[in-house]
Order: sequence, then C-alpha cells, then structure tokens
Amino acid sequence: MASAEGPAGGDTAGGAAAVGAAAVGAAAGGSVAGAEGPAGGRFLRACRREETDATPVWLMRQAGRYMPEYRALRERHGFLELCRTPELAAEASLQPVRAFDLDAAIVFSDILLPLVPMGLDLEFSEGAGPVIRNPIRSEADVLALRPIEPREELGFVLEAIALVKRELAGRLPLIGFAGAPFTLASYAIEGGSSRDFAKTKSLMHRAPRAWHALLAALSAAIADYLAAQAASGADAVQLFDSWAGCLSPADYREYALPYSKLVLDAMARRGVPSIHFCADSGGLLEAMKEAGGDVIGLDWRVDLAEGWKRIGYDRGVQGNLDPAALLAPAGELERRVRAVLDAAGGRPGHIFNLGHGVLPETPVDSVRALVEAVHEYSRRPAP
Ligand code: CP3
Repeated sequence: MASAEGPAGGDTAGGAAAVGAAAVGAAAGGSVAGAEGPAGGRFLRACRREETDATPVWLMRQAGRYMPEYRALRERHGFLELCRTPELAAEASLQPVRAFDLDAAIVFSDILLPLVPMGLDLEFSEGAGPVIRNPIRSEADVLALRPIEPREELGFVLEAIALVKRELAGRLPLIGFAGAPFTLASYAIEGGSSRDFAKTKSLMHRAPRAWHALLAALSAAIADYLAAQAASGADAVQLFDSWAGCLSPADYREYALPYSKLVLDAMARRGVPSIHFCADSGGLLEAMKEAGGDVIGLDWRVDLAEGWKRIGYDRGVQGNLDPAALLAPAGELERRVRAVLDAAGGRPGHIFNLGHGVLPETPVDSVRALVEAVHEYSRRPAP
C-alpha cells in the first residue's frame, strides 16, 4: 500500500495535485472560470440543455494508460491500489484536466468496485482485465450477497471525490459514476469480460427469480452509492451500462430497464444531473430514454442527428466520435470532430465525447487537438 511517506503518496499525489489547481485554472484559458461560470459552467449548463459559449467536452476514460503521467503512477502502484488510495485516485483524476482544456473531471475509480463489499473476489490481472474468482452462478450465490454501506465500504471513492473537488476549487465540475445493474450483473456472472454473455443470459432465462433478486440488490446498492458520491461533491453522475447493447429491446425492457430506472429516478429526485450511457445502443435508444437520464450517451454506430431525433429534444445527448478517430492524422480527426458537431447542429444539450473510452494507444497530442477543435469550431457568443 502507498503510505503518506512513500514517494507517490508524498510528492506525486499531494504535490502535483496542489500544482494541478493552478494548472487547471490556466487550462480554462484565462476566462472567468467556475463550475457555473461561462467556461466552467459549460458542462452543467449542457446537462440542463441551456445555451453555452462553446460545446463542452470530456472523454470517457480520459484518465488512463494513453497518458505518460498515468503510466508513471501505474509503474509504482497496482490499479486497485490507485482506486483505493484517495490521494492517488485524486491525482489520476486531475492528470487529464491539467493536461487538456477539458470541461469536466471524472473521479478515478472503476465500476466493479461495489461488487467487492457485496462479497465478490475481484482482481485486475495484467493483460486479462478484471477477474472475479467466485462468480454468481445460482440463486444461492445471489442470496449470499451482502447489502453494502457505501459510506464505509467505498469511503475511499468518496474521499477521492472530496479531494478532487478541493483541487478543482469550483473551476470545473466533477462527474461521479457507477455501472448500471445489468452491466455489473454481467461481470458478476461471467466472472470477467465476455463476448456473447452466454452465462449472463443463461441465468436470466433459466433462473428469472435469481436474476431479478440480483438486479434488485445491485440497483439498491448503486442508487445509494451514487447518492453518496453526489453528497461528497460529484456535480453530476454517469451510469455506465456498457454491455446492455447485447440485449434485444424486449429483453432490455424486461431484464434491465426497470433497474436502471430505479437508479436514475433516484438521481432525478435528488436533483443530481445524470448521463445514461450504453455502448452499441442503436436498438435501445427509445427504451434507454424511458429508463431515464437527463443526457443519453450515444456511441458512434448511430448518427448523432438521427439518434437525438429518436430520443427527442427533451433530453441532451453525449457523444459520439469513434475513439479510433484519435488514431487518424490531424486533418482527418478534425474533419470527424466537425462532423459530430454539425450533426448536433449547435442545439443546446450536446456534450461532446467519444462513443466509448479512449484507447490506450491514443497519442496525447490527438486528445489535445480534439479538445481544441471542439471548442474552436463550436465557439459562439456567450449566452
Ligand atoms: O473515465 C475515467 O477516466 C475514469 C476512470 C474509469 C475507469 N474505468 C478506470 C480504469 C471509468 C469511468 C471506468 C469505467 C469502467 N470500468 C467501465 C465502463 C466504461 C466502459 O469502458 O465501458 C467498465 C466496463 C469497466 C471495467 C474494466 N475496468 C475493464 C473491463 C478493465 C480492463 C480493460 C482495460 O481497459 O484495461 C478495467 C480497467 C481500468 N479501469 C483501467 C482504467 C484506467 C486500466 C487499468 C490499468 O491501469 O491497467
């Protein structure tokens, strides 16, 4: 474990985070900043579908291996250690907002962490990604899950949120997040990543009572966890339903939607802006809207203009550049950024993002160029 005296706990996390506050201010371009000011307020204003001086941009997985600063942290600390040490998680969360003129920070954590206090034995192995050694395969396994107390068992995430908020000092908003019940269930059942989700769908069809008990337990835990993140300072939350796109619309409605709705309704009641993201969601957009979210996340497999029309203009949209566009030469990247902005047509309520997370092989200069291109091309008179 990192200690306060250790090289990272001491200088990297604490020291760099303090420098970060000034650098974040500078990245805001010297404009009057503030989480609600003209530049700092772009993201939250867009969540409410209000006019902004430029389209806000942040990137899913904006903290991560494509950044040399992150790789330096990872040389000294395991991934779960980073997540569980508030000073290190805060440092990882601040790295991208220091390096780029992003319009929001996201807390550094992982969607799978709440599964641990529920009783699952989670590990991240180099190369293979997440592994759960005691996956859920039966109703008895579901009944053995423990209810969680996020304020105690996931207190390190809440502390990281408080630390990042302090460093941002109102200059930028902070996004909290959690996995949606379906996506978390898929990891809990598969025991890791999957291509066809056969074990997940098998439990869904063979043991519907166990399925519904599992999703009820997950949705209660996630609603409570996100409420705790908001209470600790998260200005908005994103619900990641990364793999729900593997479901038919009918199965999504029966087996996933009610549980995501439970979480998103709880956020709406608290007045916490929410983004509802699902990858490969072209068949589910109308149902995702029904589940909730002030903003619906779109991936690149749907045209943004068409997707927004299907969802309806009473919701915002986030997306939807193909992450692989960041591997294209500068001119091509810029052309593709403009195409996404043109599809949004300057309508209030668009948050620019990728259609899924930043790929590890992404050049840092491409991320910088993307962020600049979004702001330059979308610039309009301040509201
Ligand atoms: O976006 C951010 O910058 C915040 C941090 C964040 C991480 N994971 C850090 C991470 C967020 C928002 C997540 C969400 C997450 N985690 C999702 C939903 C988003 C998506 O991609 O669909 C999922 C499915 C996970 C589960 C997960 N975590 C997997 C499958 C993996 C292994 C694959 C991979 O990319 O390495 C992780 C590991 C992980 N989560 C890393 C990071 C930075 C890489 C860990 C490392 O340093 O080796």
